[in-house]
Amino acid sequence: MRWIAAENPSDQGCMAAEIICRCLQKKPDALIAFPTGSTPLPMYASLVACYQSGQVDFSRMRGFNLDEYAGLPPEHPQSYAFFLWENFYRHVNVQQQNIFVLDALADPVQAAADYEEKLKQAGYPDLAILGIGINGHIGFNEPASVQEAFCHPVQLAPETLAANARFFSPGEKTPQSAVTMGMGSILKSRKIILLASGKGKAKVMARLKQMTQIDPMFPASFLFLHRDVTVIADRDAWPQGEMMTAES
Ligand code: GLP
Repeated sequence: MRWIAAENPSDQGCMAAEIICRCLQKKPDALIAFPTGSTPLPMYASLVACYQSGQVDFSRMRGFNLDEYAGLPPEHPQSYAFFLWENFYRHVNVQQQNIFVLDALADPVQAAADYEEKLKQAGYPDLAILGIGINGHIGFNEPASVQEAFCHPVQLAPETLAANARFFSPGEKTPQSAVTMGMGSILKSRKIILLASGKGKAKVMARLKQMTQIDPMFPASFLFLHRDVTVIADRDAWPQGEMMTAES
């Protein structure tokens, strides 16, 4: 696992966008798995800017969302399908047929199986961009003593429900479950970038930096099993007490 320090979220966004642009320059039809949350917003803004200045072409890129709330229609402002569309896809020349999202309204077991099959047919991601939850979740792979390897439905952990409640209106019924790519699906990606920014992530990043075991109660630790993971953490999320070098 390679750690790269970013000065701030915007710097982090540029660094991640640059990696995506390089990937697409090498392989215009690359399959890329995309995250949601606040963390990747500067990356999407930077990708849109790169597109507008003619630095990148998304016309053949295939995009797969990492996860989705169960039961939220795609037009709901908090649906992850909506998030990706609103913050990224609608501003660039990605082709509608190359956008893949989990079917939030289908039976979750079936939706998960169908998505895994689509990933398999498409050859799994060339590049997966990930965020991290405060409990170490990746996508919506929550801490559990046994982890489902591939796409699967999941009950959201109390800390995830609390952390994500900020996105929903007061009094609105928030989704309690989701469907996510499994850690096994994610680990089939050729290259993985993990993004973390903000003080709220310093603790979880310190834990990841110090860990030497794979712990299903801390799903991010499965990333140790992959040979090409780059962590880009900004100054605030950087583990306290660890030297903040450009690369470590
Ligand atoms: C959600 C998503 C994750 C994301 C996490 C962190 O739970 N399912 O994929 O990494 O939020 O979000 P934020 O970047 O807002 O902290």
